[in-house]
Amino acid sequence: PPKPSCQEKDHLSMTDALKLGFSSFATPTKGVLVVFCDDGLNFGAATKKAIGSAIDVVTRVAKAERFTGKKNSTLDLTVPPGLEVSRLAVIGLGKIAELKPNDFLKLGGLALGRLPNATSDATVFAEIPGGAMRPEQAASLAQGARLRAYAFDRYKTKRKEDEKSPKVRNVTIAVGDVAAVRTAFNTRSAITDGVLLARDLVNEPANVLYPEEFARRTLALKKLRVAVEVLDVRAMKKLGMNALIGVGQGSSHQSRVVVMRWNGGRAGEAPVAFIGKGVCFDTGGISIKPAASMEDMKGDMAGAACVVGLMHALAARKARVNAVGVIGLVENMPDGNAQRPGDIVKSMSGQTIEIINTDAEGRLVLADVIWYAAQRFKPKFMIDLATLTGAIIVALGQEYAGMFCNNDQLADRLNKAGIETGELVWRMPLAPEYDKMIDSKFADMKNTGGSRWGGAITAAQFIKRFVDDKVPWAHLDIAGTGFDSRQTDINKSWGSGWGVRLLNRLVEDHYER
Ligand code: BES
Ligand code: MN
Ligand code: ZN
Repeated sequence: PPKPSCQEKDHLSMTDALKLGFSSFATPTKGVLVVFCDDGLNFGAATKKAIGSAIDVVTRVAKAERFTGKKNSTLDLTVPPGLEVSRLAVIGLGKIAELKPNDFLKLGGLALGRLPNATSDATVFAEIPGGAMRPEQAASLAQGARLRAYAFDRYKTKRKEDEKSPKVRNVTIAVGDVAAVRTAFNTRSAITDGVLLARDLVNEPANVLYPEEFARRTLALKKLRVAVEVLDVRAMKKLGMNALIGVGQGSSHQSRVVVMRWNGGRAGEAPVAFIGKGVCFDTGGISIKPAASMEDMKGDMAGAACVVGLMHALAARKARVNAVGVIGLVENMPDGNAQRPGDIVKSMSGQTIEIINTDAEGRLVLADVIWYAAQRFKPKFMIDLATLTGAIIVALGQEYAGMFCNNDQLADRLNKAGIETGELVWRMPLAPEYDKMIDSKFADMKNTGGSRWGGAITAAQFIKRFVDDKVPWAHLDIAGTGFDSRQTDINKSWGSGWGVRLLNRLVEDHYER
């Protein structure tokens, strides 16, 4: 493939500016010290020892600042008297009994957020008033710090004076059982690498990350023993993927389909399947979009990015599951060769589609890759992810992704995994009544409903026509969560990597042997 026009070197490796280490509790002598207390301003024994005689000042400053240790509240002391560290940051835990596993991830993000830009050394005491955090809690704390530290700045060649930070930040997490925390952290590191990989892909501009280049980057998964196959347009034509091909035909970049397989489960057992919309840029095509915010459409491949990040996570933590990931990579452009409104295409399933609006392209891509994944792999279930409709953002905002599902058990499991990871899904309806809206005069169906009403639902209803109802299937519309997303304690990135932790959790909870 041609070289991307704005790429100086290979960015296959993820380098974060954060260097994390673990140690046992020892009073630090430089940098920033971050500690935790409950809503009675109680500290753990090791923390108390590290604070030493400065406890009086801490109490006084807390009183002056009305800091009471409420959950996620913070108190900063610069050059605390009697301490060698340059700064002491106290983070409130609220009521200890009310802490949930996912809270420790947030606390890790919050801890990292307390470090001023210029910090090169920091120590975080993974201790609550009752004693050292449990290994999985301390490991989540470290994971949260990594997620928070991620920044996509590879194209910045200049930095403002106040952004001049050290190249590497050494953050030491002081813990009870170092070996146990390291073990728990290794699994979480695999998952975090998957999230950061997904973020990188979403953040990359479309002049760099077009279908061929996206496909090339997935080849890095081979190092983790994931089997990766790339289908070119010829192979797709042979398979009859005309719905997908039609979307990409106006672009000077060729379309690709990538199939990734991780076999960590029993030999011959049916895999779980994840399918992603990978529109590397969505201009709308001939039904062209307005200029405002069109640059955001470089992120229209967030579904595909999530699938790649998930495959990375599963393989890197050697999940005991058979999993396949299939992504459809295209660029939706207006051009003399582009697809027109009124065109009729025959999908791989044999069903014909009348194109009403070339901007409703994601469902055309998904129609073929979902059909292909089902035919070839006979999966246990299928989950597709797509930045599919603006309508889902109107319905749910940026807090929840839309979930459409033909199976109550799968829906319940996704819902629970969402609550556990904080990557929330809200179930939306599928019903034959909506189906009528996409019947066509000339073909088996049309690619948009007659009106804008229920736009996320008619899109899901369209995809459903390419799913055999005997296979549990969920469609996640991540238009509101995949990019330009809510900034949280564990995400300051435009591309959020949403869904990697959710789906990893789903697999971990229910589908590993
Ligand atoms: N990629 C867009 C959906 C989108 C919009 C995602 C804004 C994130 C932010 C999708 O391809 C699209 O254009 N959908 C249309 C469908 C319509 C033409 C039926 C939409 O939502 O307007
Ligand atoms: Mn579109
Ligand atoms: Zn799109």
